[in-house]
Amino acid sequence: MTQVPTGQPVTVGPIATLSPMERAQAGHPDASAVDAEPEEPPSGRRPGRARTRVRRARRRLALVCNVKPTAQPTAQPGAQDAPTDENEEFDSPETISALAQLFTQEGYSVTVLEADRSLPRRLIAGNFDLAFNIAEGRGGRCREALVPALCEMLGLHYTGSDPLTLAATLDKDVAKRLLLGNVKTPAWRVVRTLTDLADFDLPFPVIAKPNDEGSSKGIHDDCKCNDFHALEALCRRLLDDYGRPVLVEAFVRGPEVTVGVVGNAHPEVVGLMHVVPTQGEPGDFIYSLQAKRDFARRVRYAIPPELPPDICQRLEAAALAAFRLLDCRDVARIDFRVGPDGEPWFIEANPLPGLSPTTGDLVIMAKAMGWSWEALITRILREAEFRQGVLRPMLVARGEPKRKKPRSLDVVNVADSAPVAVVR
Ligand SMILES: Nc1ncnc2c1ncn2[C@@H]1O[C@H](COP(=O)(O)OP(=O)(O)OP(=O)(O)O)[C@@H](O)[C@H]1O
Ligand SMILES: [Mg+2]
Repeated sequence: MTQVPTGQPVTVGPIATLSPMERAQAGHPDASAVDAEPEEPPSGRRPGRARTRVRRARRRLALVCNVKPTAQPTAQPGAQDAPTDENEEFDSPETISALAQLFTQEGYSVTVLEADRSLPRRLIAGNFDLAFNIAEGRGGRCREALVPALCEMLGLHYTGSDPLTLAATLDKDVAKRLLLGNVKTPAWRVVRTLTDLADFDLPFPVIAKPNDEGSSKGIHDDCKCNDFHALEALCRRLLDDYGRPVLVEAFVRGPEVTVGVVGNAHPEVVGLMHVVPTQGEPGDFIYSLQAKRDFARRVRYAIPPELPPDICQRLEAAALAAFRLLDCRDVARIDFRVGPDGEPWFIEANPLPGLSPTTGDLVIMAKAMGWSWEALITRILREAEFRQGVLRPMLVARGEPKRKKPRSLDVVNVADSAPVAVVR
């Protein structure tokens, strides 16, 4: 598998800076694909009727990401030997390599770009047709919105939700406000400083968690608070450690279910994953950072959920409603806990769900529902291509059967996706 050096742009597949001739000399699979330039007419042929070679260069895809450093920092306040969760949201080199290889097989020339300050320059220089965005970003509550905002500034098509949705969903308080009245969500308060606790009025138990972190950053096994004393201590710690507002929410003790959704105009549920704790009291369960890191021992995944069909239907309906109300695009994973009333209670939406072929919750769920990882990722890609009218790349890999005489523009049905415009 291709190694992805941390923080470095890496070209996987065709090297964009090489000429077609150089690519051919390098024996690259893309060698047969050259830009649609008129060929010199052979001598004797009438000028002005230059034939155009029709096999086009691969389209260029920027895989925009934040690569997780291989060495984890270790100085977590209060837990000296434990790794911190500083880089928890970022993607592993293995995930990025797998995605890059898949997009190469899909006919794209793939360049992996770290989402850092060099990104604007690299996106401009790369002249890309599409950005596949999995960048979690660095900074405050708008960090996930930075790459889509940049793509919009550059007029570059990109996968996934737009900046408004990515910012609104990363800020859990904002996302909950947007759903109020349509999707049930536990009562909550935002604590910006400890003085905000002076008039705290929610009944216990509650959970306290960073308002705008993801990947369970700051969400530990002890985040459930049964009294004010515990809440105050936890808020102090979270404010100190993360420097971000704390969301304090009524603790919903029922089953934990996460729902995968793909699509746009007619979003579709990929599956429902019931996260069943294998240790401790189920009603106290938190799908915490520790539980996620040790998932093989601490939880099992019931797909479909071990819940009555009517509750599953309500979960699906709530997920689709949240997907629409939050204006998600292409893909999202939406987390719920089921209340004592059998109603789904919205916890949060993840429009940039983890896509690790082995550990991503969405991927685990999709596989159990009969999707391969490749089918899931290409579905997301197709949704973005179709939504934006990005033409499918020519498939020019070696061994690809010779195509019939080219025509200008066709519309074909791509397996498991909506019709997609294809140049062939
Ligand atoms: N109100 C709540 N009631 C009960 N459990 C909760 C509540 N809020 C959060 N949790 C527990 O904490 C876990 C993590 O919370 P949440 O999904 O908000 O954080 P996250 O870091 O954004 O998660 P992810 O890893 O899915 O990005 C949930 O999966 C759930 O187990
Ligand atoms: Mg979650």
